[in-house]
Amino acid sequence: MKFFLCHFLLLFSFSASLHAVFCLNSDGVALLSLFRQWTSMPSSLSSSWNSSDSTPCKWVGIECDSKNNVVSFNLTGYAISGQLGPEIGHLRQLETIDLSTNDFFGNIPEELGNCSALKNFDLSSNRFTGQIPGNFKYLQNLGFLSLFSNSLDGEIPESLFRIPGLQVVYLNDNNFNGSIPRNVGDLSEVVTLWLNGNRLSNTIPESIGNCSKLQELYLNDNNLVGVLPESLNNLENLAYLDVSNNSLIGSIRLGSGNCKNFDTLVLSFNNFSAEIPPGLGNCSSLTTLAIVGSNLTGTIPSSFGLLDKLSYLDLCENHLSGKIPPELGQCKSLETLRLYTNQLEGKIPNELGMLSNLQDLELFSNNLTGEIPLSIWKISRLENLLVYSNSLSGELPSELSQLTYLKNISLYNNQFSGVIPQSLGINSSLVQVEFTNNKFTGEIPPNLCFGKQLRVLNMGLNQFHGRIPSDVGPIPESLIKLPDSSPSSFLGNPSLCVNCLSSGSLTCFGNSYLKPCYHHSSGLRGLSRIAIVLIVLGASLSLVFVLLGLVCLFLLQRRSKQELEISAEEGPSSLLNKVMKATENLNDRYVIGKGAHGVVYKALLGPNKVFALKKLVFGGHKAGRMSMIREIETVGKVRHRNLVRLEEFWLRKDCGLVMYRYMENGSLHDVLHATNQSPILEWNVRYKIAIGIAHGLAYLHHDCDPAIVHRDIKPQNILLDSEMEPHISDFGIAKLLDQSPSSTSSIFVPGTVGYIAPENAFTTKKSRESDVYSYGVVLLELITRRKPMDIDIVGWVSSVWSNTKEINHIVDSSLKEEFLDSNIREQVIGLLSVALECTNKEPNNRPDMRQVVKRLSNMNMNPPTTSKCS
Ligand SMILES: *[C@@H]1O[C@H](CO)[C@@H](O)[C@H](O)[C@H]1NC(C)=O
Ligand SMILES: *[C@@H]1O[C@H](CO)[C@@H](O)[C@H](O)[C@H]1NC(C)=O
Ligand SMILES: *[C@@H]1O[C@H](CO)[C@@H](O)[C@H](O)[C@H]1NC(C)=O
Ligand SMILES: *[C@@H]1O[C@H](CO)[C@@H](O)[C@H](O)[C@H]1NC(C)=O
Ligand SMILES: *[C@@H]1O[C@H](CO)[C@@H](O)[C@H](O)[C@H]1NC(C)=O
Ligand SMILES: *[C@@H]1O[C@H](CO)[C@@H](O)[C@H](O)[C@H]1NC(C)=O
Ligand SMILES: *[C@@H]1O[C@H](CO)[C@@H](O)[C@H](O)[C@H]1NC(C)=O
Ligand SMILES: *[C@@H]1O[C@H](CO)[C@@H](O)[C@H](O)[C@H]1NC(C)=O
Ligand SMILES: *[C@@H]1O[C@H](CO)[C@@H](O)[C@H](O)[C@H]1NC(C)=O
Ligand SMILES: *[C@@H]1O[C@H](CO)[C@@H](O)[C@H](O)[C@H]1NC(C)=O
Ligand SMILES: *[C@@H]1O[C@H](CO)[C@@H](O)[C@H](O)[C@H]1NC(C)=O
Repeated sequence: MKFFLCHFLLLFSFSASLHAVFCLNSDGVALLSLFRQWTSMPSSLSSSWNSSDSTPCKWVGIECDSKNNVVSFNLTGYAISGQLGPEIGHLRQLETIDLSTNDFFGNIPEELGNCSALKNFDLSSNRFTGQIPGNFKYLQNLGFLSLFSNSLDGEIPESLFRIPGLQVVYLNDNNFNGSIPRNVGDLSEVVTLWLNGNRLSNTIPESIGNCSKLQELYLNDNNLVGVLPESLNNLENLAYLDVSNNSLIGSIRLGSGNCKNFDTLVLSFNNFSAEIPPGLGNCSSLTTLAIVGSNLTGTIPSSFGLLDKLSYLDLCENHLSGKIPPELGQCKSLETLRLYTNQLEGKIPNELGMLSNLQDLELFSNNLTGEIPLSIWKISRLENLLVYSNSLSGELPSELSQLTYLKNISLYNNQFSGVIPQSLGINSSLVQVEFTNNKFTGEIPPNLCFGKQLRVLNMGLNQFHGRIPSDVGPIPESLIKLPDSSPSSFLGNPSLCVNCLSSGSLTCFGNSYLKPCYHHSSGLRGLSRIAIVLIVLGASLSLVFVLLGLVCLFLLQRRSKQELEISAEEGPSSLLNKVMKATENLNDRYVIGKGAHGVVYKALLGPNKVFALKKLVFGGHKAGRMSMIREIETVGKVRHRNLVRLEEFWLRKDCGLVMYRYMENGSLHDVLHATNQSPILEWNVRYKIAIGIAHGLAYLHHDCDPAIVHRDIKPQNILLDSEMEPHISDFGIAKLLDQSPSSTSSIFVPGTVGYIAPENAFTTKKSRESDVYSYGVVLLELITRRKPMDIDIVGWVSSVWSNTKEINHIVDSSLKEEFLDSNIREQVIGLLSVALECTNKEPNNRPDMRQVVKRLSNMNMNPPTTSKCS
């Protein structure tokens, strides 16, 4: 039955602009009373919910049946803040309520139990507190119940699990305590049951085995105890089971029944203290199996060889013993095999070499013996080979070079011997190489530094020596100054020495771990200080002369060749020498930042002479080096108020040093996201930063010939001087650095996640449009002060903006006061729309940087004025 209520009082509480008496049906009245309790919502909603309508059926988020009763109330993601009032209980015909992803707080009203027609119920991702109302038992038509990511507590009512048709239940990520309702088996239709991330205690009810349609069961991150119920084996449809991070004990009774649909089984971080059941080998659909840190004993069942879909097997940190079953080599799809920190013994089976998809092989901290089978060195996709702390022996084969994706090879604490194949250096993707404490001999391959990503190289406690046939020889200098290596990385090789001079202020890298190579010193005596510095920087002797030549190249801009030679001879006062002194040979104490391409140091060369030094580590091939020098030269000539000025640079084969003016206020990233005490950043400062970056980029894109595309625009690369004027850094460099042979042939994408334009996600297309996109993201970050890595900032802003047209929901809340000034408000909206255009998915629809500069400058033609008063 339909009836109407006339409300005059409401008139005044909603809108002073209403001028007529109105009649709205009772569902509409109930909705308006709900609305009244919301403190913030988008204007698209408040303008649509018009109290002079006769029904709410055309309102945003509302759907009605033919009798104008509300059947669906869906305002998901509307940025509503407030409480959910008891008036909701009046919506008797309601079938769907979806208020997920808002900012609702307070209790869930009891009265919802009156909406007995409800089928779909979603209040997830809010701030609701309190318990699930007991009245929910009246919602006998409920099929979908989602309350995850709130702060609900108390016990999960048993009555809830008596609702016969429940198919989907998400109660995860709340504070529910008590037991899992013992009658969970009453959920005969349930397909999805997520109870993870609560404080549920007690055992997993045996009755779970009666939920015969269950496919997804997530119970992880609770305080459950006892054993895994045997009845889980009755669940023929179960595909995902996660019980990790509880306190379960006893035998793992899985795999004895029909487990053909198991896809993912995660049992990690319990205390089973039991053996792995061989029956798991019968669960033929398994792709992921993880039982980490659960005090497993016994052996790895050979039946795992039957799991031909398995791609992830992680049994590390247990007490497994015996051999690695050769049958594992039959899991052909295996990508990750982690068996580390167990008591496995015997040889690594040759058969593992058949795992052609294997990327991670982590067998460290076991008791494995023998050689690494040749077949393993031929798994071309292998990225991580971690076998340290075993008793492995043998020599490394030259096939090592076939591992072209190898990043992390840790062989330390074993008995490997022989010479390290020179071909290791060809693996340009290497990041971490640890060979410490073995019996390696011969030379350390000097071309290891080709890997521009190489960060850790530990070679200590071996029998390496210098260049054959000399018995004592230097460590390849190119290896010694890697970001995370030091001469101590080579400690314990009695035949290795460090090239350096004992005289003068420059010590051997400031330590006495390794003896200096004396037999070379006479040859060095005639060299100038700059050469010595270069040696310390890591250049090998023969390279010094080449380098002096390179230093010429860039100095030629200002000085003649003769002058250069003089400057090289005046060594002690050379700039490089001063720089090295000021930073105590690039001591960590002077580090002010670490970027993708190198570490940045601060060098104080005199009063008011502060510089930033960036140490670059790059791979290079001979042909590319000259063009790189030319390009750095080009970049060095670029001068613009909004570009960081390159003062000097020094290059050598694998590393380089670039000197900039020091920027007092650090990077825009620091200023926006400093963990403690971020400054407020007034709007005019943000505007200045926005337009400054635009000027700098426009200059690079349109005034430089050839145009320079930055490719890595992000707040970390925008530096702010004492006046908060922005200066773009790293232009040109990023591009140069990515020209090494490894990156041109690889799928490496330059740029930083969050700022990469969509068209670049899978290609290495480099264009001005992509810089424009990144610039747009930086603008959004300036406006919202949110990090693109944390959220999909472009998606979030554009959906909130197009849904609500409310800038308040988007901007950094510390700007809200300034918003009272309508000029500022307009500027912000103007900047936002530029940002959204710049981040248009279609590159051709983005403005170019000249247009951006123009748009931004026009905004400033109406500078903020004091608001007019009447
Ligand atoms: C509400 O509806 C009335 C009549 O249909 C109309 O005059 C009024 O402008 C509307 N109010 C709003 C805020 O849209
Ligand atoms: C609510 O609306 C959104 C689209 O705005 C839709 O994706 C979602 O499925 C709806 N919720 C329900 C429970 O139907
Ligand atoms: C609605 O729910 C409340 C609380 O559960 C109850 O007291 C009330 O009687 C119900 N109203 C109607 C009309 O059923
Ligand atoms: C559950 O938490 C509530 C408070 O949120 C507490 O009163 C109750 O005793 C707890 N129950 C159990 C079984 O721990
Ligand atoms: C499962 O259901 C059967 C039949 O409905 C019932 O007899 C049995 O007790 C239930 N098992 C558990 C453990 O609840
Ligand atoms: C284990 O679960 C608890 C919640 O019960 C959670 O706070 C904790 O972070 C989880 N630990 C791990 C390692 O995930
Ligand atoms: C694990 O279980 C064993 C008994 O099986 C018990 O002795 C041990 O204390 C438990 N360890 C932990 C950390 O709970
Ligand atoms: C591991 O299990 C054994 C029994 O198999 C038990 O004695 C031991 O305490 C357990 N260890 C831990 C750390 O729980
Ligand atoms: C695995 O399945 C085979 C045949 O289906 C059966 O004979 C064997 O007992 C099962 N293994 C286990 C451990 O349940
Ligand atoms: C490793 O194996 C060797 C020989 O097989 C044995 O002597 C040693 O005790 C084992 N070490 C461990 C930690 O099991
Ligand atoms: C290499 O593996 C070790 C584990 O042994 C890990 O700590 C390190 O982070 C890994 N390095 C890289 C670059 O992945």
